[in-house]
This record gives sequence, structure tokens and C-alpha cells, in this order.
Amino acid sequence: MHVLVLGSAAGGGFPQWNCNCRNCLGLRDGSLKAQVRTQSSIAISGDGERWLLCNASPDIRAQIAANRELYPKRQPRDSGIAGVLLMDGQIDHTTGLLSLREGCPLDVWCTPNVHRDLSTGFPLFPMLKHWQDGLRWQSIEVDSNHGTAIFSVPICPGLRFTAIALHSNAPPYSPRRGSPTPGDNIGLYIEDTRRDRSLFYAPGLGKLDDELRGWLQRADCVLVDGTLWQDNELQQAGVGQATGQDMGHMALAGENGLLSELATLPAATRRILIHINNTNPILDEASNERAELDTRGIEVAFDGMRFEP
Ligand code: MLT
Ligand code: MN
Ligand code: ZN
Repeated sequence: MHVLVLGSAAGGGFPQWNCNCRNCLGLRDGSLKAQVRTQSSIAISGDGERWLLCNASPDIRAQIAANRELYPKRQPRDSGIAGVLLMDGQIDHTTGLLSLREGCPLDVWCTPNVHRDLSTGFPLFPMLKHWQDGLRWQSIEVDSNHGTAIFSVPICPGLRFTAIALHSNAPPYSPRRGSPTPGDNIGLYIEDTRRDRSLFYAPGLGKLDDELRGWLQRADCVLVDGTLWQDNELQQAGVGQATGQDMGHMALAGENGLLSELATLPAATRRILIHINNTNPILDEASNERAELDTRGIEVAFDGMRFEP
């Protein structure tokens, strides 16, 4: 299984166009040791040729340009992107579909909840019908008892996908904002059946329960929500009122934070953070918070990062 990190930042990217927080300011004026990051997306492949885009970022055009695996190679009109999977219906994970219209029809895997939001509040599915039949919905039916769905994606032979309903939040434009139901956000457990290796991916994680802990424990590599260091980080930075919990992102630090959860995983598990918000001190490579990640053996995903779990 090949993983390509196309965008490692949360919504807004880093630096964010209208943000004057310490990090964004420091990156612009050159005083901060940090890397530019585009908005959240990865690509997964079983054969290194055909890629499943997991989330379609507003920055997709630049992300394709930066990664030659995704270039057209075989026909006059072509792409390394052979399908799309959506973890939720958030703007930073779906807007890129508009930029992929020249490549329609395009298979798009998502849950019924996400399909409903993208047919009503943000009607990408009906709109894109006007471009060569648009988006062909491939439903991910998370079971209402266990909150999981096992499925395969034809362009990824040898990979077995399990979607897991997560506690997070529906997008701000959704009628379920503040009271999400199973399927508004999923995590993915992906097994490479030929190599017996697995990845757990969840860029939006509001809370862990024992069922979910089980999936993290089983994975050889976890690529998880690094949005915020602290729950009240946006308030502290003076850039917003919403807490991490309001947005459906659990903070890294603190007694019940994601770092203490990651500390319980087997020693051999590779731990990588993704979907980093521009206010997060871990973006500053000289910060104490980044040093703490190093001590804990936790990596921070960066744009262009490639790995095989
Ligand atoms: C999120 O991850 O919570 C969203 O991307 C936030 C947003 O769309 O502004
Ligand atoms: Mn986001
Ligand atoms: Zn900022």
C-alpha cells in the first residue's frame, strides 16, 4: 500500500490567507521555522499507478502539479486519480471535486449522510451531472449497530477497506451540525492483504471509544487528527470562538488528549499527525510542543510525504 500526503493542513491551509496568528505571521515574514501546507488530502494506491483520492481539497490543482504520480500518462486525457473517497462533507474535503469536473464521470465513495449534504446544502452531486454524467456515487453503508462497513475499491486491488463511523461533527452548512449521526464522519482502516500491513486514517476525530481504540491498536500505522494542540486554541490565538470539541476535533494535549491515547499503542506502531490547524504550535519546528512529539516518537505529516505503512 502506497500513501501520498497531498495536503497536511486543516481547513484554511498554512498560512491561512486572512490569518495573522503567530504561526501564519511568522511563516510569511520568514521568522518561523516551518513548512507551507495545503489543505487536507491524501492518496492511496495498491499498485503505485492508480490512486484513490481520499478527500478532494480546494488546493487539488496545486497538489496534482506537485505530485507526478497523479499526472496523466496513458491517454490524451487521463489522471493518476482513478476514484475519490470522502471522509465527510466538509468544505476542505470536498470543494476539489469542482476542479476535477473535466475528469467526470468519476466514482465517489461516501456515506449516505455525506451524499445527502452534497445533494442539498452543498449540491456538488446534482451540479456536476452537467459534466459528462458527473459523480457516480458509491455508497459506504456504515452499519447502525457496529458503525462499520467493509468494502473494496476496484482500482485498489489487494486493499480491504473498513469505514468506521466516528464521533466528530457534521459540516457548518449541514442540518446535522451540532447533532451528527453515524456516517457524518468516518475513519478508514485499510489492510494490504498481500503484505499483511494496515493503516488507520482519521483526519477528523472528536472522541475515542473502546471500539475505536481497538482499530487503532490493530493498525501498523495511524494517520490521525492533529488539528489542535489545545481545545481553546483558537480563542487563545485570538482568531475565533469555536473550541476543538465544537468542531469535532479532540485536542492533542491534556489528560484526555490524543497524545495520551497514542501512548497506549504498541511500541512498533507508526504514529503520524495530519490535518494540522495553522494555530497549532507543533507547526513551529523549534517549539517545545514539537520537541514533545519527537520525544514521544510522533511524526507530523507534510505535503509530499510518501510512505508504505
Ligand atoms: C473542520 O475540519 O472542522 C472543517 O474543515 C472546518 C471548516 O470547514 O472550516
Ligand atoms: Mn477540516
Ligand atoms: Zn494562523
